[in-house]
Amino acid sequence: MDQFSRLLDTAKIPGEETDQDASLRPSTLNEFIGQKKITENLKVFIESAKMRKKSLDHILLSGPPGLGKTTLAFIIAQELGVNLKATSAPIIDKAGDLASILTGLEENDVLFIDEIHRLSPAIEEILYPAMEDRSIDIIIGQGVGAKSIKLNLAPFTLVGATTRTGLLTSALRDRFGIPLRLNYYEPEELRTIALRTAGIMGIAMDDDAALEIAKRSRRTPRIVNRIVRRVTDFSVVMKKGCVDLEITRYALERLDIDELGLDEMDRRILHSIIEKYSGGPVGLKTIAISVGEETDTLEDYYEPFLVQSGLLKRTPRGRMATMSAYKHLGIKFNSSIEEEQQALFEE
Ligand SMILES: Nc1ncnc2c1ncn2[C@@H]1O[C@H](COP(=O)(O)OP(=O)(O)OP(=O)(O)O)[C@@H](O)[C@H]1O
Ligand SMILES: [Mg+2]
Repeated sequence: MDQFSRLLDTAKIPGEETDQDASLRPSTLNEFIGQKKITENLKVFIESAKMRKKSLDHILLSGPPGLGKTTLAFIIAQELGVNLKATSAPIIDKAGDLASILTGLEENDVLFIDEIHRLSPAIEEILYPAMEDRSIDIIIGQGVGAKSIKLNLAPFTLVGATTRTGLLTSALRDRFGIPLRLNYYEPEELRTIALRTAGIMGIAMDDDAALEIAKRSRRTPRIVNRIVRRVTDFSVVMKKGCVDLEITRYALERLDIDELGLDEMDRRILHSIIEKYSGGPVGLKTIAISVGEETDTLEDYYEPFLVQSGLLKRTPRGRMATMSAYKHLGIKFNSSIEEEQQALFEE
């Protein structure tokens, strides 16, 4: 594989999903379930760019993992009828890497940069004029003989994806004309996704089984797909003709996924805050060490869903388990610390 194809792959993102995931990906905006506000607006922006024969403005897709950022990037290119060049920030480590990607783009192509919050400052510097004036400055030669030359680029659309808008510099964030934040999905939407996935896999699934999966999938399509596959495994081995509610509940129990969709690690996090740190507040790093998980994974993946479910609260002094968390885990709330906790919630 030459150096250029190491950085770019038009078919898949380095280190991303399996082929199984790719086949489940919707390929048009109409097939994309949920996120209606986003998809309806995108339809207008894409249509307008096509009518004016201009490149679409740069788009920033943000939101928790598995909600469809990569999927949308592919759909945008598809709907525009242009090439998609995909790469990921952590593998662009030299200025020359990004320069070669940018100069290789054809008119109105989409360049997808995943995990864009992980670009190094030196690489970001190259991206600014590329996004704004469609040009890059490259340095030729070294020392006193070094010269800077300006290269013009073809008009293109940068689609950046990030799980953490907070880590983006404001200079970079401000250069995206279309910032889009994906939200957690509603159970009804996830039910439709479960049925669609079962359909693609050629599996018969009852409606109430699909709704059960939807309710226990952390409001995330990727998890829906994962659970559909696992439930299917149980149903095949147990020779059920169809995925019904009974086998679904049985499989979810075997997978240690509870009624709220929490997995073993979610519960371990809450137990740790409550039992080792009297309910908090406690810093994220301390929690990470206590449960044996990476701080980044806690912040990207576990925490947003626990906060969204009302089980965890972020306070200026750290994370706290809420009353609902105590209730969910069946742990009695110690009333002597109740007032203290209450005061911290209100901070
Ligand atoms: N709206 C949707 N309708 C149907 N399937 C979806 C939808 N959104 C996502 N999916 C499915 O969920 C999977 C995960 O989506 P995707 O890879 O786009 O998430 P992501 O936001 O890029 O996640 P990450 O932050 O981890 O990169 C995809 O394989 C796709 O099949
Ligand atoms: Mg992705």
